[in-house]
Amino acid sequence: MKLPLRHQVLEQLSDGRFHSGSLLGEKLGISRAAIWKHVCSLKALDFEIYSVPGKGYRLCEPVELLSQTRIEKYLTRYTRENFRLDILDETPSTNTWLMSQIKHTTAPHVCLAEYQPQGRGRHGRQWVTPYAGGLACSLLWRFACPVGQLSGLSLAAGLGVVRTLEALGVPQVKLKWPNDILCNEHKLGGILLEIAGDAAGPCYCVMGIGLNVNLKRAHAQMTEVTQPWTDLARLMPDVSISRNQLAALLIENLLDLIPHFEREGFPAFRQDWHRYDILSGRCVSVQGHNTETTGIARGVNAAGNLLLDTGTAQIAMTAGEITVRF
Ligand code: BTN
Repeated sequence: MKLPLRHQVLEQLSDGRFHSGSLLGEKLGISRAAIWKHVCSLKALDFEIYSVPGKGYRLCEPVELLSQTRIEKYLTRYTRENFRLDILDETPSTNTWLMSQIKHTTAPHVCLAEYQPQGRGRHGRQWVTPYAGGLACSLLWRFACPVGQLSGLSLAAGLGVVRTLEALGVPQVKLKWPNDILCNEHKLGGILLEIAGDAAGPCYCVMGIGLNVNLKRAHAQMTEVTQPWTDLARLMPDVSISRNQLAALLIENLLDLIPHFEREGFPAFRQDWHRYDILSGRCVSVQGHNTETTGIARGVNAAGNLLLDTGTAQIAMTAGEITVRF
């Protein structure tokens, strides 16, 4: 896919060194004025760029852009040859983009985007992905089974994310039912599953995963997020996590986990899921449409439903918004 000039300018500047406007123009086959225009559009995306007369432009902090070649280097040969990868510069939402491809593509198909201005979260919320500051990843899979057999899939996907983060040395990763990824009780990522097709099967599932890598550039937007959040840059200030390695490991883990889920369903993942369950033993309230159920969280059942001990009964919750009570 041909990348827009804004992206190409950023790529040239990504090393954090000075680059003269005229040399950049020569390299990209555009005028110095056009370079300046793209630098302005990058500044509008909250990139800090110094411009010094006689020296050129310099990105205040180096940035690692997504690259098909770099991602492929981290993948096993088997994985590389068995899925399609599209890296977009910008799309409103990688989930929406991949859903629109269902009829024209063969699964598995992964879409990553540098920038996702209308990223979608659960319960109709917005998911903030600043340019090159997060990982916005959607994966399309075709399931031959009926939709009903996919219960617990989003929980299993959470384990794929945990395995990825642990492999990169991220400490204390936890899961909050149904599919929040947390570190130090702060949200680091989330999962949004969307399913299309025949209820009796086959059906298509788009698994959207958002991870906060460095949200510095989204500071203003993040002030509106009510849930406590974190990012990898804060959690691991001394390590620079490669977004390409992160993407590759995530793809590898998901492409390994989904066929396992297809064969055995959520029961095969349930025990492992409990190891990371942050709610277990805590008093929680689950908000439904017009209901609120409070009880002690007791893990999940074989369908991935949250088990709540209300004192008088054990209830399996299928959906809802969780509040932890102290
Ligand atoms: C949540 O916790 O609310 C779920 C967040 C899911 C965000 C990801 S980012 C990639 C994919 N594209 C989207 O628009 N949403 C998901």
